[in-house]
Order: sequence, then C-alpha cells, then structure tokens
Amino acid sequence: MKRMIIDCDPGLDDAIALILAHHCAEVVGITTVSGNVPLAATTANALMLTAMLGVDTPVHSGAAGPLVGAPTYAPHVHGESGMGDFEPPGHDRTAAGDDAVSYLLDAAESDTWVVAVGPLTNLALAIERDPDWVTRIAGISIMGGSIAGGNVTPAAEFNIYADPEAAARVFASGADLVMCGLNLTHQVETSDALVAELRAAGAPLAHFAAGLLDYLHGVMAELLGRRATAMHDPCAVLAVTHPELFEVAPRPVAVEVDGTLTRGMTVVDERTGNQGAAANAGVAYRIDAPRAMALVRGALGA
Ligand code: BDR
Ligand code: CA
Repeated sequence: MKRMIIDCDPGLDDAIALILAHHCAEVVGITTVSGNVPLAATTANALMLTAMLGVDTPVHSGAAGPLVGAPTYAPHVHGESGMGDFEPPGHDRTAAGDDAVSYLLDAAESDTWVVAVGPLTNLALAIERDPDWVTRIAGISIMGGSIAGGNVTPAAEFNIYADPEAAARVFASGADLVMCGLNLTHQVETSDALVAELRAAGAPLAHFAAGLLDYLHGVMAELLGRRATAMHDPCAVLAVTHPELFEVAPRPVAVEVDGTLTRGMTVVDERTGNQGAAANAGVAYRIDAPRAMALVRGALGA
C-alpha cells in the first residue's frame, strides 16, 4: 500500500477523499488548513472523520489563513460547518498537535506522498523552512488548478485562488508534482443513483456518504443546474494509489499571483518543443472514470 499524508480542508469532497485514502492507502497523518471553512472547523471535521472511520491517524492543525491577505472560504458549497447539513456525533478525538508544518517536515520519508487537497499554505511554509523537504518525500499530488478555467473566478480554481503565493512556491519547489485540476476531476462525477445505492447499503459510513453527496448535489443543482458533483479531492488520492488510471503529461506550470482577472490561475504551458520553461509538474489529463468511480463506490460501501 502506498503511504501518504493528507493535507486537507474538510470539506465534503475532502471527507470522501479521506474515506477513500483510508480504504486503499496507508495514511500516516492528516494535516489541516484553512480553506473551505475556517481552520478550527476543518480540524474538527478531520478528527470527527477519524473517529467515524475508527482509525487513529494523527491530525495536526496548520495554517489559519493564506500567506498573503484574508482567508477565502466556501460555505455556500460545503455548509457553514464544512460537512453540509450533517450533525456530527460526539467523539473523544483531539488533535495530535497544532504545528502541521513541523509534522510535515518530521514525517518526510522517501516512500511517503503528500496528497494536498486544500490551499497549499502548509506545504509552502514547510518548503520555506526546509527547501530540501521536497527531496525527502516521494512527491506531492495536488488537487488544484486546471489546464483552463476556474470555479471561483473564470481563471482560478478554489485551492489555488485561496493562496496563490503558496501555490506558486509549491509549483516552483522542484518537488515531484502531480496536478489533478478541474479539467481532470470533472471527469469523475457522482449521481443520485449512487446516493440511492449508498442509502440502500445501510451501513453507517455509506449512509453518511449518501448524506454528504445528496447535500452537494443540491448545491450543484443551484450553481450548475445539475444534480451531480465532481470527485475533486478523491482524484488526488487515486493519482498516488492507482496511477495506471491516469494519463499524465509533463508540463511547465506557473501560478499567476498578480493578474487582475487571473490571480490564482495555473498557467499550463502546452507549447511543444523547447519553447518554454522545463516541465515542473505532471499534469493529469485523462482518468479512467468508470474504474475511478468503482473505487470510490467500494470505499464508501456501495
Ligand atoms: C476544491 O475546492 C474545494 O472546495 C474542494 O474541497 C476541492 O478541494 C475544488 O476546487
Ligand atoms: Ca478540499
């Protein structure tokens, strides 16, 4: 099994990613960051999920806001708590620490991936403290950006938009990077049939997942006019655990930090030949969506 640390901002699709990761990988730790909801809520949600899964994965909280400026949140997608309308059960879990950056640095191992599915603040701070950190981990799988188009602005995807300076540092760090952007994650979508299947399965975890997806489907119906949601964050887990499902191409990727219209955009250079900078990321273009969805369904207990 692949070993990974998950840096996340749960978040509804983060929750699905955490369930999937504990099903098909060895999750050595979870670090939390401000993102979909404030840090206290992302940390509380991560702890609640470890309790629900019955795992003792340590949770370390991290950055409460981006490197520059004020936090960006997404309660209109994930609910005020980050878990939609789910009423969390009581549990006895507490965070293992409040210094995610030190944890990331100390837990580095050559066989351990960092799967980053929130704003990249914790990772940028780790790189700032020790630029060689990226050579001591297996690589970083990022849910963020897109080859074209955003979901917060016309140009920028949420995780990059929420901390563009951090993302720029991570993309320039020399790490072995895989980028699962919106162009990729929208290929893997849920449906109401899956919600029904999960409800019929009856197990508590399946029931919980059905509730999260049902809530997201309602949000997406309002925002996009369709009861379906992309499995953004689970894709970044699968890029590590099941790379054979992906078509990935090496590309130069830079993050726009200045643009009036384009701040937070991932600029992916698709020119051929020696016209641009050297590739610094593997950009995921295609995924075997039926097989990816089968893995998600299995993890959720459908
Ligand atoms: C990303 O933004 C967040 O809202 C999701 O959890 C995902 O990580 C998609 O743009
Ligand atoms: Ca996320």
